[in-house]
Amino acid sequence: MTPSLGVCYYPEHWPEEWWAEDARRMAEAGLAWVRIGEFAWSRMEPAPGELDLGWLDRAIDTLGAAGLKVVLGTPTATPPRWMVTRHPDMLPVDASGRRRGFGSRRHYDFSHPGYREECARIVTILARRYGRNPHVAAWQTDNEYACHDTTLSYSEAALHAFRDWLARKYQSPQALNRAWGNVFWSMEYAGFDEIGLPNLTVTEPNPAHVMDFRRFASDQVVAFNRLQTEIIRQFSDAPIAHNYMGRVTGFDHFATGADLDIAAWDSYPLGFLSDRLEAPAAHKRRYLRQGDPDFQAFHHDLYRAVGRGRWWVMEQQPGPVNWAPWNPAPLPGMARLWAWEAFAHGAEAVLYFRWRQAPFGQEQQHAGLLRPDSAPAPALAEAAQVAREVAAMGEVAPARAAVALVFDYESAWAWETQPQGRDFDWFRLAFAAYRALRSLGLSIDILPPDTGDLSGYRLVLAPGIATLSERLKAALPGVGGEVILGPRTNARTRDFAIPTAPLPPAIPGLDAVVALAESLPPDIEHPLPRGGAIRHWLERLEGGAEVVERTAEGWPVLLRAGRVLYLGGWPDDAAFRRLLAEACARVGIATTDLPEGLRLRDTAALRFAFNYAPEPVEHEGRTIPAAGVAWWPRG
Ligand code: GAL
Repeated sequence: MTPSLGVCYYPEHWPEEWWAEDARRMAEAGLAWVRIGEFAWSRMEPAPGELDLGWLDRAIDTLGAAGLKVVLGTPTATPPRWMVTRHPDMLPVDASGRRRGFGSRRHYDFSHPGYREECARIVTILARRYGRNPHVAAWQTDNEYACHDTTLSYSEAALHAFRDWLARKYQSPQALNRAWGNVFWSMEYAGFDEIGLPNLTVTEPNPAHVMDFRRFASDQVVAFNRLQTEIIRQFSDAPIAHNYMGRVTGFDHFATGADLDIAAWDSYPLGFLSDRLEAPAAHKRRYLRQGDPDFQAFHHDLYRAVGRGRWWVMEQQPGPVNWAPWNPAPLPGMARLWAWEAFAHGAEAVLYFRWRQAPFGQEQQHAGLLRPDSAPAPALAEAAQVAREVAAMGEVAPARAAVALVFDYESAWAWETQPQGRDFDWFRLAFAAYRALRSLGLSIDILPPDTGDLSGYRLVLAPGIATLSERLKAALPGVGGEVILGPRTNARTRDFAIPTAPLPPAIPGLDAVVALAESLPPDIEHPLPRGGAIRHWLERLEGGAEVVERTAEGWPVLLRAGRVLYLGGWPDDAAFRRLLAEACARVGIATTDLPEGLRLRDTAALRFAFNYAPEPVEHEGRTIPAAGVAWWPRG
């Protein structure tokens, strides 16, 4: 498929006389898509039941007349003020028991039945009215579930829904007591109506209680989203997307993804580098205006998996954002590079956020493709360049990678619930593995945790999966080369207890148990004689399995049983890179020693190179400028 570009637009922010000219300029820049509507509830329904959709009809007509395809957002992330008067208890409650207020966005509780009904009502109105509109070519549900820390709410509505969820899951309080281990500290319950939410306890709540609350909260997001997709599908055949975020693990995106046609995400590389990444200060300085070389690609690959192949970037940073601790401007060329990188990873569309910078409201300092005075901002020319280049290239067909990484949201919750060491963060571990692979020049597929067939991959990584699914466990021996598990694999049962017979990791065929595990402060390292060191986490492995590698003290750290390897610690960047390079060599995957900041991605026909470095780099006889993109036929 030939990828396309677009932009996010807020017709309700601008005089109607401007719309046609805006649409003309969008089309002139080569944009194909325009997303609208996702925050406009107060203009769609200014007072309860009083609809005003004439302006939206005209906005869609105007954009459509310019040849643009509309993505229509449901406005449920921004319930208007009257809604809160109608349902005062729809506001979410934070972990310290304070109700969160009106005055920004996402001020709703996923569990509130009254608010769900209001959402069903407005989505039905929009789907009925625009479901067959020839210009509405896609839908977006809500906006960035979980953003601003909104998955968990400790409200009355959540409490009642949680008790129902537990009753359905366990059937009897005795079964729940057994599963949670409530004999510990006399936590036993006699009925489901005695169970509270796991906040405001004197010291830490039972981790099994927390885990079930996390699963429940994730299910509430899934149900909230499904309510909307089921309505839209009654009236429209257009594909439905949701725009996810970067490094958000609070709900199971694979589960919401099953109800959607397209997984989209919102990519703000400079904001994310500044506020969502653990990295040395020198790294943040070097990539200040380009973003981390792997963070975007990681999410591209993740959301390709969540979307079962169909994915977009719904919002692409065009210039400085407003919300990170510091908000630098991208290097010239980055607004182009980011779009091309998404296309090389298989994105169907990339939409810049936003058309014109807003002179009012919370995001006044957030750049758009236009300045507030409607003059072009720097990214407009870069977007137009990408549009021309894409038109010239035609189809960009993704290719299956030789290497895969398993991503598991439940493991993120598990290790947040019981990190055992302050910096044991599951995303961080998975991302470290990904970064090491990418630094070897590899393209990577990300797989869901219930993957049942690994035979198409020569190397599969599944670090830190708290409970291996039966499907994945059964698929391990069938991997097309090697699979590397650990640390902390299978360290918990589904009930969040340590399995005792046998002890973890209980991998069929691997004669090994974790006899002891320790977490380590960040300045402690256990060197590996062949290069690099173990940090954060180190296990003492016992058993008769073949030892592939030991720490300098002689403790086994990498074990093997046939095609399955188990890593009993968290390797630092140098160790990860070396271990994975060695694994690649064993399974016949060619690796490349890339200049710092250069990254590669293969499509079916082409090899793309992206230079995140602030200086030109040399690669295979080519010079790639700072913030430059290059591509050539795959050898
Ligand atoms: C996104 C959000 C947009 C806008 C943008 C600013 O997270 O979906 O509505 O707020 O950030 O960077």
